[in-house]
Amino acid sequence: MNIVVLISGRGSNLKAIAKAFDKGKIEGKISLVISNRKDAPGLKVAQQFGIPSEFHNPSDFASREDYDRHLINRIEMEKPDLVVLAGYMRILSEEFIKTFEGRLVNIHPSLTPAFKGLHAQRQAVEYGVKFSGCTVHFVTADLDAGPVIVQAVVPLTPEDSEDTLSEKIRYYEHKIYPQAIKWISEGRVRQKGRIVVVEGA
Ligand code: GRF
Repeated sequence: MNIVVLISGRGSNLKAIAKAFDKGKIEGKISLVISNRKDAPGLKVAQQFGIPSEFHNPSDFASREDYDRHLINRIEMEKPDLVVLAGYMRILSEEFIKTFEGRLVNIHPSLTPAFKGLHAQRQAVEYGVKFSGCTVHFVTADLDAGPVIVQAVVPLTPEDSEDTLSEKIRYYEHKIYPQAIKWISEGRVRQKGRIVVVEGA
């Protein structure tokens, strides 16, 4: 399994995934990490694990479409089995999604389809739900609403703030993202339209 990971920020999910490869829990490697932000701490995480990492500057391109076309070309050079979005904070062009559809995954910090978009944890706290969580899903043109591979449920207490909930959710993100990638690497994940079936799970 050869994957490319796209990041914009902290890179804690990248770290959890890199650890899983390092420990042999997932066979294969992360062949490249790409960031759209020069100062993304996740780039340092990549370095720590000896993973090639690159910053590609969106400002060098006239449009989202041009930037994404550039990324498609760069990513395809790696011939990845899977493209993993791990805190990548840019809307993707239609062409990007079409190119990698079926081998493009994301993690979102809510139980989708609840609380899509930005600040999902804040949305959950403000709504007053008793449970939230995180979702690994295939990426489609529908923002944060692609077919669900795996979800983890996190209970909220009345004391929870956006920060405390984010921390609780992150703990589970670091478990389910490597898990989902492992399942995919083992060829156990099949899609029947919207429904994702994981054999033996
Ligand atoms: C995570 O909360 C993830 O759900 C969201 O972006 C955040 C990335 O965090 N898509 P990190 O950069 O992996 O620490």
